[in-house]
Amino acid sequence: MDERDRDLMLAVGRYLRRVNEVAEQESRATRTPLGDLISEHLGADAADVAVVHEQILDHRLVDADIALEVLADGGRLIGVSGGEQRHQQGLTELISNPYVRYTPGPVDYVERATGPQANRQVVSLGLRLFRFEGAPLAVAQRAAMPHYGRETALVEVLGADAAVVTRFLDALRAAMIEHSVLRGQVLSFEPTEYGRGAGATFLPRPAVDEDDIVLPAGVLEETIEHVVSIGTHRDELIRAGQHLKRGVLLYGPPGTGKTLTVRHLLTITPGTTAIVLTGSSIRFISAAAEIARTFTPAIVVLEDIDLVAMERHSSPQPLLFEVLDALDGLDGDADVAFIMTTNRVEVLERALAERPGRVDLAVEVPLPALDERRRLFRRYAHALDLSDAALDAAAEKADGVTGSFAKELMRRTVLRASRRGDAPVDDDLAAELGRLLSAREQLTRSMLGAGGDDRVQTPPEQYTAEFGWMA
Ligand SMILES: Nc1ncnc2c1ncn2[C@@H]1O[C@H](COP(=O)(O)OP(=O)(O)OP(=O)(O)O)[C@@H](O)[C@H]1O
Ligand SMILES: [Mg+2]
Repeated sequence: MDERDRDLMLAVGRYLRRVNEVAEQESRATRTPLGDLISEHLGADAADVAVVHEQILDHRLVDADIALEVLADGGRLIGVSGGEQRHQQGLTELISNPYVRYTPGPVDYVERATGPQANRQVVSLGLRLFRFEGAPLAVAQRAAMPHYGRETALVEVLGADAAVVTRFLDALRAAMIEHSVLRGQVLSFEPTEYGRGAGATFLPRPAVDEDDIVLPAGVLEETIEHVVSIGTHRDELIRAGQHLKRGVLLYGPPGTGKTLTVRHLLTITPGTTAIVLTGSSIRFISAAAEIARTFTPAIVVLEDIDLVAMERHSSPQPLLFEVLDALDGLDGDADVAFIMTTNRVEVLERALAERPGRVDLAVEVPLPALDERRRLFRRYAHALDLSDAALDAAAEKADGVTGSFAKELMRRTVLRASRRGDAPVDDDLAAELGRLLSAREQLTRSMLGAGGDDRVQTPPEQYTAEFGWMA
């Protein structure tokens, strides 16, 4: 190597160092103060570290918030200042941005339910700086913003070591299940305000005693046996290679106590995760099945399942198959019970026959016979001063009526007496029964589920319009 080569090489070396310096200055110029802080924490230029995204259904944001709080224990939680667009920009744009100087600022929170009566302030935009397995991580957390087109919540993870980031996300998913606020709750699904998604909402657990239900002997016992007892014997069943998941269909005329029975089942299974879908919310079946699978033991209630099976273009509705396939898609040893109710079993029969094995018990909840009517009438009149003889005579006369009819009859009896300024007597009962059984009240009777053969049936189109789905 001669002198000239040497000089040239040294010159090139100086040039390359200068190139690096300029690049560094440029990057520092676009790097925001927030980016500086993150870089300092990571011990590397944050702009060079890949961001790993984890989408989270918005109703699991609370779980993510709690899980992150646990995993980031001892770390720092900061927010972002720099204008409204911070909500729309990804972590990368918050770190380096030629237009907005994002700086650490106050954390954004949103209030979310953690139970039927409880709330929690959840981070809707924030950044956690902490160590996981000794390695520094920066984790951003965001709520969904459906009005800006972001349907899911988002966790963004920044860490120099990709393997650590992967293990962290595994730990996050596990902690979200372990600390979930959904486990053991009674949930329903509602469409979100914007977009097509759905969110789980909390319902108070019902309180319906066995004594509150009047059914022919064996009906309630058989249902409880199938829904509750199978779960109680889970270990023996699994050992013997038997499946735990089960599907029960409660069918019978309107107002006979199917919903009441379901409410009783939820009463006697505290600690079981229950998801109740009615009418149009049945379209969220896969999200419900996902929750049931994750938080066993679980009960999925599908109320008035016939509404999804109503004939439109093809018969039966694909959604009904989706429901049955969701049941089929569960692991056999998942402790999940599907309870479906219908007052129009005939519209389900074909679908159930085409997908055999999903429903393993069908229980008829019939119109009450004379003995049940007597019990129903006495039950709903228990606070009133009516004679047993009058109640029994009324029960005898009211052939074909339901539990909801009995309840309404007592209400009218009380109303009639109070119009007089009096307590109800046997004559009020007889008079109101006569009125309700008269031809004029035929529609009322059919709405109470006691219309007999000329019962008014809601045509399928009307159901569909009423629930506003598939429209
Ligand atoms: N078997 C019953 N025992 C006691 N009360 C009953 C019974 N059946 C109905 N009732 C009364 O009528 C109300 C309505 O009954 P429920 O909602 O359970 O009817 P359903 O069978 O689910 O009807 P639908 O098919 O219209 O949904 C109950 O809340 C209860 O007050
Ligand atoms: Mg019902």
